[in-house]
Amino acid sequence: SRTIRLAVVPGDGIGQEVVAEGLKVLEAALPADVKLETTEYDLGARRYHRTGETLPDSVLAELKGFDAILLGAIGDPSVPSGVLERGLLLKLRFAFDHHINLRPGRLFPGVSSPLAGQPEIDFVVVREGTEGPYVGNGGSLRTGTPHEVATEVSLNTAYGIERVVRDAYRRAQARPRKKLTLVHKNNVLVHAGHLWSRIFAEVGAEFPEVATDYLHVDAATIFFVTQPERFDVIVTDNLFGDILTDLAAAVTGGIGLAASGNINPSGEFPSMFEPVHGSAPDIAGQGKADPTATVLSVAMLLEHLGYAAEAARVEAAVAADLAERTGTRSTSQVGDALAGRVSG
Ligand code: IPM
Ligand code: MN
Repeated sequence: SRTIRLAVVPGDGIGQEVVAEGLKVLEAALPADVKLETTEYDLGARRYHRTGETLPDSVLAELKGFDAILLGAIGDPSVPSGVLERGLLLKLRFAFDHHINLRPGRLFPGVSSPLAGQPEIDFVVVREGTEGPYVGNGGSLRTGTPHEVATEVSLNTAYGIERVVRDAYRRAQARPRKKLTLVHKNNVLVHAGHLWSRIFAEVGAEFPEVATDYLHVDAATIFFVTQPERFDVIVTDNLFGDILTDLAAAVTGGIGLAASGNINPSGEFPSMFEPVHGSAPDIAGQGKADPTATVLSVAMLLEHLGYAAEAARVEAAVAADLAERTGTRSTSQVGDALAGRVSG
């Protein structure tokens, strides 16, 4: 028998509520001989207000030893913008080298799309997770003067691009449609854009079966709305991927359904799974949050840990539940229903 050691970071706002349901479904999905050992970490706004800490080095060191991390949501209006994002969420992604930020965009049957004609949407965005403008390489000059200057430098390395591009090709190769789209803005961001395009073409030579195309990010936003069915696998940089995956969520039933995995494929560090949505302080503590995005993130976690059949069961449970959804249910009612389907 095996033990899965899972670090749980519920975080802020609705994080607590949705993570509880995610764990319920995870327990229900795991084979009887697999033991789930969870350790909860109190990180986020409360900890910050209490101690001034966002992610102490000692906690980071402990987290390193887990098989995976399940995260709820980070952020609260009482904390200045950027403090928890940079000091906690991005710190985890960077420290654990989560260079594959995997974000599926799938419109489940029965979920109404805001798009005309209920298109078939089933793509996955492979968002680079450790580079781009997110690296924090910027600064301010002449602060407070009329000549103030602010910069954020987008960092793009051949090493970083190649590993995410190769991962995306592998994923495309494994899917029925075998199609990979590079999204960038190489008509304006010529330095980074051309490096991405060149490496995309070079690595593509190893994957002759994968059909490729390229879209500028602005054009991609149009196609996400007018022809989302054209996409299979998309690979893009950290910031474009951030923006595109919120749009992806909007066209596939909303942010309450959007899952993500921050993956370190080598297994050197634990991968981290989290709903794409934020802490939603306006509805926190009311049992109103939809835990489905967290449950789908749990499916990604299962897949990552090698439990493909169990992951498929969780996805099937979500699909069945979504197909029959009527009326309003509380967070825990949705979690119970999903856990029931998974074990039933
Ligand atoms: C996301 C979020 C984060 C990001 C923020 C909170 C730092 O928007 O996970 O998409 O920009 O990556
Ligand atoms: Mn985002």
